[in-house]
Amino acid sequence: MLKINNLHARVEDKEILKGINLEINAGEVHAIMGPNGSGKSTLAAVIAGKEEFEVTEGSVELDGENLEDDAPEERAHKGIFLSFQYPVEIPGVSVTNFMKTAINESRKAKGLEDMPANQMLKLIREKAELLEIDRKFLSRSLNEGFSGGEKKRNEIFQMAMLEPKLAILDETDSGLDIDALRIVANGVNKLKSKDNAVLVITHYQRLLDYIVPDFVHVLHNGKIVKSGGKELALELEEKGYDWLKQETVA
Ligand SMILES: Nc1ncnc2c1ncn2[C@@H]1O[C@H](COP(=O)(O)OP(=O)(O)O)[C@@H](O)[C@H]1O
Ligand SMILES: [Mg+2]
Repeated sequence: MLKINNLHARVEDKEILKGINLEINAGEVHAIMGPNGSGKSTLAAVIAGKEEFEVTEGSVELDGENLEDDAPEERAHKGIFLSFQYPVEIPGVSVTNFMKTAINESRKAKGLEDMPANQMLKLIREKAELLEIDRKFLSRSLNEGFSGGEKKRNEIFQMAMLEPKLAILDETDSGLDIDALRIVANGVNKLKSKDNAVLVITHYQRLLDYIVPDFVHVLHNGKIVKSGGKELALELEEKGYDWLKQETVA
C-alpha cells in the first residue's frame, strides 16, 4: 500500500530525514518510535504532503503511484489521513457539520454527488455507536473547550467517517492522559481491517500496551535504525533509546 524509498527531506537548510525505507501493507499496524527530534512528525508530514518540507531524494508511493506532485488535499482524497496535532477551534460549527462538509468535499474530488442526508445520518450514527460517542458530543462546536480526550475522540471519529486507506496518528502530544490513549487505541482497534493500514507515531511505549502493532520501527536522527515486532517496543521501554545510539555509532 505505502512504499517509502530512500526518502530524504529537509526544512529550511536542515536535512531531517536521511534515507527512510518503509513498506506498509494493507491489514498492518506499524508503530514508529524514537526520541524527541528524531524526525517522527516530519515523516508524518512528508507522507501527508505538507509543503514546508522539501523532499530532496527518494519517493513516497501509494498503491504503486508516486505522490510527489500531489498536494495534501489530493493525498487525503486518495486515502491518507493524518491526525491533527493541534486541532483548530471552529466556534459555531458542530462536529457533525464539519464532518458532513469533509465527506462531501472528498466525494466532490472523486466526481461524486453529495451524500444524501439520510445516508449521512445513518453513517454518522453507525460510526458514533461503534466508537461509543454520544449525541451531545456530535452537536458541540468543533474543538471548542474540548479536553484532550475529546479532541482525540473527534479525531478518531473523523478517521472512522473518512475510512482512509492509511491512517497516520502522530501522538506526540505529551498532554495525553490514559483516557485519551484508550480512546485512540480503541478507535484504531475497532477501525482496522484487512483493507486499511495504520501508522502510529509515538514517543511513548504505553500507547502500544493498547494498540498492538505488527511492526515497530525506531527512528533516530532521521533514519530507521531498527525494526522488529511488538517486542521491540517493550525492549525500548526497558532500555530506553541510548543503546540504539551506541549501536548506530558502532
Ligand atoms: N518547520 C520546521 N522548521 C525548522 N526545523 C524544524 C521544523 N520542523 C521540524 N524541525 C526540526 O526537525 C527535527 C525533527 O523534528 P520532528 O520531526 O518534529 O521530530 P519528532 O517528531 O521526532 O520529535 C527537529 O530538530 C526539529 O527542530
Ligand atoms: Mg513529533
